[in-house]
Amino acid sequence: MDVRRIREDFPILRKGDIVYMDSACQSLKPDRVMAAMDLYNNEFPACGGRSVHRLANRVSIAVDEARERLATLIGSTSAENVIFTKNCTEALNTIANGLGLREGDKVITTDIEHNSNHVPWLRLKDRGVGRAFAPTVDGVLDLDAFQEMLDPSVKVVSMVHTSNVTGTTVPAKEVISMAHDNGSLVVLDGAQHVGHAPTDVTDLDVDFYTVSVQKILGPTGVGLLYGKEDLLKELSPLSVGGGTVGLADYGSVELLPPPERFEAGLLNYAGIIGAGAAADYLLEIGLDEVRDHETSLNRRLWNRLSSMPEVDIIGPDDPGLRAGITSFNVKTMGSHDAAMILDEMAAVLVRSGMHCCHPWFQSRGIAGCVRASMHIYNDERDVSRLSDALEDMLSTFCR
Ligand code: ALA
Repeated sequence: MDVRRIREDFPILRKGDIVYMDSACQSLKPDRVMAAMDLYNNEFPACGGRSVHRLANRVSIAVDEARERLATLIGSTSAENVIFTKNCTEALNTIANGLGLREGDKVITTDIEHNSNHVPWLRLKDRGVGRAFAPTVDGVLDLDAFQEMLDPSVKVVSMVHTSNVTGTTVPAKEVISMAHDNGSLVVLDGAQHVGHAPTDVTDLDVDFYTVSVQKILGPTGVGLLYGKEDLLKELSPLSVGGGTVGLADYGSVELLPPPERFEAGLLNYAGIIGAGAAADYLLEIGLDEVRDHETSLNRRLWNRLSSMPEVDIIGPDDPGLRAGITSFNVKTMGSHDAAMILDEMAAVLVRSGMHCCHPWFQSRGIAGCVRASMHIYNDERDVSRLSDALEDMLSTFCR
């Protein structure tokens, strides 16, 4: 992978003054994504799926094309199974609220979910829906414990595919097979997986899958909800209105089939078209290449950090298990302080705090951590700059 050439595609990196390691929160966007959005705004800034004039037709075609590309990115054999949402969180809320879970039903998640895959299920407590948390040990899911938790009341297993804290990936095929044997549906939150490694929802046989477009080199304000066709037909939409109905009269309404049924109101057309361009860009580079690149950077970073006695690394010892994410703490310093100092001293931009995984941090009495998260545009020099800055910080404040 030619990272030097790739970096040239990212305007903010061309300026050359920062090391961006916050891609798990939001990735950077290449020129091509902005160009696709500009094309929409400049050439056909109309709404899709309604009017029949020439601009509107271009919008509808561009949205269909983007849906096809994103379906390819996640391995969906049909673009109709891919729904555009506002973000990954809205996709997860749609599933949690739309499955019609009832009193006595139970949902299993891992113990290290992002709030987006925790709070929507937690709120179903009002309907008498229970929860159980499959344990992770050093970020790795305990499959035996998970198997023990499966019983007929477990209607849904909803897990983070790749953790935004430890970077570990759940053994999705095993989880899905075990859950299906139990008669449970499986939802995977793919926010940190898609765009970093090959993803194939068809091969996984997963029932629902969610994606955050701003983490896959695309714009903010767009997410994806994938579902199997028969399940989407049964899922109740979170919101309805214009664009979702075939025909309504004063007393009744006939909803359109998926995906339109779930896409109420005018959509973020520029964002969707930009998302399609981001998918193209990633597919051209190749997701195997992206995964190998990130793993190799992570190995390099782990080698440096693990030689610093003042630093605690969170998650498994094998950096190969942690995708592009490395989370750590400086033993005598709060994570926000460390992040601010890294920015001030070396313009290294990382995220700090609990990363929206409050229950996991709170239950372990950890106030937060520093997280360095990488993507295709990071290179060995970035890893050195973070590691050197950390050494400087430790010498100045901790030694
Ligand atoms: N999910 C995003 C993160 O982990 C916000 O930073």
